[in-house]
Amino acid sequence: MNIGIIGAGNVGGGLGKIWVKKGHKVIFSFSRNQEKLMALAGAAENSGTGSPAEAVQQSEVLLLSVPWGKVPEALKAAGSLQGKVLIDCTNPLTPDFSELAIGHDTSAAEEIAKMAPGAKVVKAFNSAFAEVYNSESRLFGSRRPTMFFCGDDAEAKKIVSELIMETGFEPTDAGPLKNARYIEPLAMLMIQLGYGQGMGTNIALNLIHR
Ligand SMILES: NC(=O)c1ccc[n+]([C@@H]2O[C@H](COP(=O)([O-])OP(=O)(O)OC[C@H]3O[C@@H](n4cnc5c(N)ncnc54)[C@H](OP(=O)(O)O)[C@@H]3O)[C@@H](O)[C@H]2O)c1
Repeated sequence: MNIGIIGAGNVGGGLGKIWVKKGHKVIFSFSRNQEKLMALAGAAENSGTGSPAEAVQQSEVLLLSVPWGKVPEALKAAGSLQGKVLIDCTNPLTPDFSELAIGHDTSAAEEIAKMAPGAKVVKAFNSAFAEVYNSESRLFGSRRPTMFFCGDDAEAKKIVSELIMETGFEPTDAGPLKNARYIEPLAMLMIQLGYGQGMGTNIALNLIHR
């Protein structure tokens, strides 16, 4: 699969490197530091760098991994996302990271879908810490953490579900995009546990069934 990373920071860099190792063609974009993008792409034949618009042109799947306040700028730089699968891993945090800036009657995912007409937006990868994406393995002991995802396009959700599985998580379909209203506060809970309660960022969610 061809995957464009828009925002190659903690999350975009970590996930992009995993996907390069899995054999996907990955384009890293939207850093203020071109050398950082080149270092992420490394020497692998199946990775490269470019502008967000180039990443979009060369990819059928895009990961939007920028701070909430930078979303409009990143989407503007990306150009039309018509027909593309757009994975939204953002959390709509206030600038001091202490609260969600929006919620209850909307979500970052729904706002992004409005800003990117024609994109098949899937919320995913927002509820695990970047430390987990930048670790050697996603396993906690023998357990794969859960990754909740949601969206309105069945085909796009299938693609993202497979990508979640390949990344080392147990995908859990949380329903329509509107349910990002519940997945985003879940990430806020993780932030509170990690930082507020001092558990650190090497923690993850695991849904159990019986
Ligand atoms: N960190 C986590 O554990 C985590 C986990 C799940 C979800 N998320 C969410 O994922 C998104 C990305 O988080 P992150 O931790 O990966 O962020 P980050 O490390 O700050 O990366 C953000 C990326 O956006 C780029 N960018 C371009 N222009 C920018 C500007 N003017 N200001 C700031 N950044 C700019 C940054 O470029 P530079 O390379 O120049 O900095 C960087 O590549 C956020 O919405 C966050 O809430 C984060």
